[in-house]
Amino acid sequence: NSATTVAASQMRNALNKLSDSVEDPAQKRRFENEMDNFFSLFRRYLVDKAKGNALDWDRIQPPKAEQVIDYKDIDQDVGAEFLNKLAVLKLNGGLGTSMGCVGPKSVIEVRDGKSFLDLSVRQIEHLNRQYNVDVPFILMNSFNTDEDTQTIIKKYQGHKINIKTFNQSRFPRVFKDSNLPVPKSFDDRIDAWYPPGHGDLFESLHNSGVLDELIAEGKEIIFVSNVDNLGAVVDLSILKHMSTTGSEYIMELTDKTRADVKGGTLIDYDGQVRLLEIAQVPKEHTEEFKSIKKFKYFNTNNLWINLKAIKRVVENNELDSEIIPNEKSITIGKNDIPVLQLETAVGAAIRHFKGCMGVNVPRRRFLPVKTCSDLLLVKSDLYTLHAGRLEMDPSRFGGSPLIKLGGHYKKVSDFQKRIPHMPKILELDHLTITGNVMLGKGVTLKGTVICVCEEGKKIDIPNGSVLENVVITGSLSI
Ligand code: UTP
Repeated sequence: NSATTVAASQMRNALNKLSDSVEDPAQKRRFENEMDNFFSLFRRYLVDKAKGNALDWDRIQPPKAEQVIDYKDIDQDVGAEFLNKLAVLKLNGGLGTSMGCVGPKSVIEVRDGKSFLDLSVRQIEHLNRQYNVDVPFILMNSFNTDEDTQTIIKKYQGHKINIKTFNQSRFPRVFKDSNLPVPKSFDDRIDAWYPPGHGDLFESLHNSGVLDELIAEGKEIIFVSNVDNLGAVVDLSILKHMSTTGSEYIMELTDKTRADVKGGTLIDYDGQVRLLEIAQVPKEHTEEFKSIKKFKYFNTNNLWINLKAIKRVVENNELDSEIIPNEKSITIGKNDIPVLQLETAVGAAIRHFKGCMGVNVPRRRFLPVKTCSDLLLVKSDLYTLHAGRLEMDPSRFGGSPLIKLGGHYKKVSDFQKRIPHMPKILELDHLTITGNVMLGKGVTLKGTVICVCEEGKKIDIPNGSVLENVVITGSLSI
């Protein structure tokens, strides 16, 4: 329709002007290519918005038995024979802002002075030593995370590990009201730009030349995961299954509980495997989407993808993953102006790959750290660290405890200040802490512990306390 055409051509003109602001010819070429990729994403967004590209709910079915197989049913009799075909990639474009940190999320200290990045490197070094192989470790950085990441990985220069990095795209944010790009020149302020989500992996891996490099080195499969998922270690049985079945894309799923109803799920849509995210679900079906009966699993974002297949779908322009418009605001002068960033998710590309399937894996392969409540869990005595991998104490009965820390623990720095020593939580089921509560050294928590401190007050839990099935309220120093 004409409104779409007008908005598209205004955007095209504005992007051309941005290109005019680049002088260096090589830089200009790269920038123009990036803006072309952005433009096709933007045009697709306009078209989808105009014609309404919603899925037809009645055609959405839970996946068929052959589309999701159980981890237990895949061959566990494995060796190192497929490791020389493997590369491991961590999605490292995101910042630690949601946990109150500046800089890449991957540099947050997780345990024993080691960050997500250190632990991932340790895992690969161990794998390489154990099997006498040379699995490359790749980081997809963004313009937000590259500089800090490069500084950190310098310390691995003398190590026997092949680390490659490349940057994902840098796209212009768009003013929500005018549909025009925020930046006025290619070197405009940093918050005029955004990294377009982890779905950008395919184009960026290709455009950076790293895809061809890996293929030339004889690599066939890439194992991709979120840098904050400490459970995403290389699994030889899934690797073998991928190699022997010739599947181009395996998504690791895990059983959904009531606590993770928001995660994307695999569906069958007219016989095709697809990812369904909550953002695509019509309001009247949200409860059905969240139900753990109809959609039993969710996406862990641990993905095994065939490299030549990535090359094919990128070069044939086959990718048209669902666009997730993410609304943010930026401050211009004294005003907060609403802007949009158009993102895609790496899991949404599953439908473009042949023989794709889900594997329902044990929960231990999904150990994300999104909040300081998660951080407490992975720092505690519930886990021990072995060559960069966290293993749950075998004496623990059942899954992880449910931990809810309030707003006073949102930032890592506040969490560290109030809980400088991790409590013992092996026998804990549920912990809720709100308000200004300070935990002493050597505290043991068991059963259900609820601690609620009044606004403006403070509760001190003394060193060595054992709290079992208690509710503490008020402002006492106990
Ligand atoms: P998030 O931390 O944003 O994950 O990114 P989330 O909130 O669980 O949401 P999903 O997975 O998008 O549903 C997950 C991983 O993707 C990286 C982050 O660094 C993190 O490792 N990421 C995110 C990128 O590499 N690029 C991006 O543009 C966004």
